[in-house]
Amino acid sequence: MANIILLGPPGAGKGTQARLLVERRGMVQLSTGDMLREAKTADTPMGRRVAEVMARGQLVSDEIVIGLIEERLKAGGGAGFIFDGFPRTLAQADALARLLERIGQRLSAAIEMRVDDEALLARIVGRFSCGACGEVYHDQSHPTAVPGVCDACGSTDLRRRADDTEESLKQRMLEYYKKTSPLIGYYYALGDHYVVDGLGEIEAVAAAIAAALDSANSS
Ligand code: AP5
Repeated sequence: MANIILLGPPGAGKGTQARLLVERRGMVQLSTGDMLREAKTADTPMGRRVAEVMARGQLVSDEIVIGLIEERLKAGGGAGFIFDGFPRTLAQADALARLLERIGQRLSAAIEMRVDDEALLARIVGRFSCGACGEVYHDQSHPTAVPGVCDACGSTDLRRRADDTEESLKQRMLEYYKKTSPLIGYYYALGDHYVVDGLGEIEAVAAAIAAALDSANSS
């Protein structure tokens, strides 16, 4: 069983690659962004607080996020967990190490998806997804075959995220460089750090991640 972290700034392609690993390797995707968006739709005081923080592009508190992950880890990980967008702070990284140890597991690799900032803006502002099945599209690089209709499930419920604006992206990038990028050094020091070029075609990035995963499994 391999447990991996996909690490990278907003729009690096973490979600896209995590979904491919689920399909191809039977791994379980744990996206804290998706979990928080689900929590947001429950109209509770916590959900409303989370919605405001996310729309501003800031990070939700470590306590809330670690609690969400802990719940999901207990449900089991198939062929392994893909942590997509988690951990995002050093406190979350320490908490993840403790949680994995508690369930008798370890981290195989933290895979950094490296991209440049200009590509990110273009990717983020063009992104939309299907509200019914979660398939992700892009206005230029991956439009739907029929405008307004999801290729995967036929739904017409296509949505854009509230934080996919230029202004919110600026804040998300700042949060990434301030609070999340120190994790690159953290995992490098532990010997678990791998780098892939996130600027290539989706299948080329997938092949690079598969190679990193195989190398981590054999070491
Ligand atoms: P989250 O949902 O995790 O967003 P993010 O990290 O900003 O990442 P994205 O989902 O925007 O990008 P991605 O890397 O998955 O890219 P994608 O594959 O979609 O977090 C949102 C918010 O939740 C945070 O701001 C924070 O408030 C909160 N939060 C979440 N986790 C938290 C935590 N642990 N602690 C505290 N707060 C937390 O790709 C993007 C686009 O590019 C798509 O259109 C896709 O089609 C396209 N694309 C992908 N790959 C390629 C490629 N190789 N070539 C061309 N186009 C590509």
